[in-house]
Amino acid sequence: MTADGAPKFLVDPYLEWVKTEGIPVHEDFGFDLHALDVRPWARMDALGCYAHALGRGDFVNMYVLEIAPGKHTSSQKHLFEEVVYVLEGNGSTQVETARGKHSFEWHTGSLFALPLNARYQHFNGSGAKRARLAATTDLPLTLNLFRNAEFIWDNDTVFPERFGDPQHYRGDGTFLPMRPGRHMWETNFVPDLRTFDLVTWKERGAGGSNIMFVLADGTMHAHMSEMPVGTYKKGHRHGADFHVMTVTGTGYSLYWYEGDKDFRRFDWKHGAVFAPTDGLFHQHFNASGEPARYLATAFGGMRYPTIGDKRKTFIGMDVDVKEGGRQIEYRDEDPRILRLFEDELKKNGVPSRMREIISA
Ligand SMILES: [Fe+2]
Repeated sequence: MTADGAPKFLVDPYLEWVKTEGIPVHEDFGFDLHALDVRPWARMDALGCYAHALGRGDFVNMYVLEIAPGKHTSSQKHLFEEVVYVLEGNGSTQVETARGKHSFEWHTGSLFALPLNARYQHFNGSGAKRARLAATTDLPLTLNLFRNAEFIWDNDTVFPERFGDPQHYRGDGTFLPMRPGRHMWETNFVPDLRTFDLVTWKERGAGGSNIMFVLADGTMHAHMSEMPVGTYKKGHRHGADFHVMTVTGTGYSLYWYEGDKDFRRFDWKHGAVFAPTDGLFHQHFNASGEPARYLATAFGGMRYPTIGDKRKTFIGMDVDVKEGGRQIEYRDEDPRILRLFEDELKKNGVPSRMREIISA
């Protein structure tokens, strides 16, 4: 029974719990994570808010953590996975593993993962500027499954297999060649996504490149893709929960459900995030004079897809929808898409490369 005597019915324990955190819970298709209102967050001894994208799916949430100049968070440890992208500022994180304490220094554009149930603490390295981090976690899955906060935040089980090579906290990693679009980089910490080397992936369109990350041997997924100047990727669809965050460049994404007459549009720059909902077609466009990179985080990665839809996405993400895959080839796309893109580029004084690419 609930407190007022009513039977429990269609309960979402995660959403009930999140109300008790005492910080804003924002909900929208997408956000500017730099601008979201954050408030004092007792549990973290910092500022924060939850950023619930409409396409976050059943397993994943996102929160923004802000650490004031010269401050640090309280020490944390929890039985859910967490992938952190540094939005702004610089600082360090100390992680305790069975081998000892590891500290690494991050700045805008860094990416790292917190190994499952390892104790950690974040420090703002600046005495003058705030630091903002965007974390994607699988807490909704864990909390909805166990419904017991003590089990999640006060659990002494150690997972040494998640700590990885100590070199992983120095920014080193291991390249695991698979095939285009599926090459993996295994590490715990990527110092700068803006300069990280990517691998060409012809099939997803227009000279693009990417890398799949395996972070702290986790189930949580992250990958990064780049679109060269004057190009856009092919449209595609998949299940919910991919949180797409801009790393470099500016541009927009179009999104629509099959059969819709019109597209909707989300404009992005660094700090933007959005999450396409289940089955929503979406397509990313670089409208700027520099290569555009985005980071995507989700539940279920290349190593451990975990859910059937992720497995299908990783296999079929560059296969034509007409052949049972998830991608719309350039030759089949709505002609308005190219016209809109070229109009946008004209405004920015950037030449389009798409006609030569589409006719090649
Ligand atoms: Fe996508």
